[in-house]
Amino acid sequence: MPALIDPFGRRIDYLRLSVTDRCDLRCNYCMPKDFKGYEEPSHWLTFDEITRLMSVFTRLGLRRIRLTGGEPLLRRNLPQLAGQLAALPGLQDLSLSTNATQLARHAVALKAAGVSRVNVSLDSLERACVEQVVGRDVLSQVMEGLQAAKAAGLTPIKLNMVAMKGVNEHEIETMLAFCIEHGFILRLIEAMPVGDTGRNTAYLDLESVRQRLQSRFDLVPQAAELGGGPARYWQTRDGRGQVGFITPISQHFCATCNRVRLTVDGVLHLCLGQEDRVEFRPLLRDGASDAELEATIRHALTLKPERHEFREAPGKVIRFMSQTGG
Ligand code: GTP
Ligand code: 5AD
Ligand code: SF4
Repeated sequence: MPALIDPFGRRIDYLRLSVTDRCDLRCNYCMPKDFKGYEEPSHWLTFDEITRLMSVFTRLGLRRIRLTGGEPLLRRNLPQLAGQLAALPGLQDLSLSTNATQLARHAVALKAAGVSRVNVSLDSLERACVEQVVGRDVLSQVMEGLQAAKAAGLTPIKLNMVAMKGVNEHEIETMLAFCIEHGFILRLIEAMPVGDTGRNTAYLDLESVRQRLQSRFDLVPQAAELGGGPARYWQTRDGRGQVGFITPISQHFCATCNRVRLTVDGVLHLCLGQEDRVEFRPLLRDGASDAELEATIRHALTLKPERHEFREAPGKVIRFMSQTGG
């Protein structure tokens, strides 16, 4: 079966699947505090609708699915969906991005269902700072979630830290030391202007941070790919510590983009930083054949733009990050 190739010759084999747009937190860079625009439950794709659409994607060459939200663990019976997806022939990597507030309860079931690994959002190790960024005092729950994920073997665990000027900038070294101690991979992320949350935080250019960490931790570039995402990795010379830099603003990675995103209501977004999209819910609910779904997927890929325009047009993407799951 021919691979999914976009107009710029990029092979699309990674889909970020948002299973809910709801979240129990309100991170500054993601969602407005008083957000009221949640999708109607009747619009949520069912597990069978999702699995059917993903089976067409995997037949076309999709290899990786990442479960996202909102907060994906708020979708009831998520391990059941994970099990359905993990059974799809051709799928090589089923992973989850979570805020980990509920991860301790679900880690064992997720692993048993076929989720191989988790990426966890954690912007600070200071209780008050976490509360300021996410809107609730959840540091101890997240720590329990991390330990449960490690014990369940949802590894390697990546810890996502959105680097924010004047907020958690001073903690980056401490966070890397923490990750080295616990065997987690740290990822530093530049904040993207997606949706106007009213509290979008001051962006921090990660190039200077990288130079700083390189000399303090004796980092060397890491050639191996760790997952299918956009991070560029460095490691300590002894190989114990690993840190990935995700730099959509200062050094974008669109030329090697390999992914698309599906929202909970069945809209396929072709780029995080653009509005191009195609709706699948009507097709799934009006009895479309697999051949029609395949044709629509192929058409959708022709709409994939070359790159985002976060720098040129920072206010362009009006949906919130919680709707496409990052
Ligand atoms: P793996 O590499 O598979 O572990 O995952 P990942 O890094 O792609 O996923 P994760 O959900 O942990 O995302 C980390 C950060 O990268 C988030 O801030 C995402 O918004 C960002 N990100 C992921 N994919 C893209 C992308 O295609 N474009 C942009 N601009 N940012 C992305
Ligand atoms: N910019 C960069 N990263 C973001 N995330 C959420 N919103 C933003 C944003 N505006 C990250 C979260 C989570 C990942 C899936 O996306 O920190 O770890
Ligand atoms: Fe791909 Fe768009 Fe992300 Fe760039 S911003 S890497 S084109 S999804």
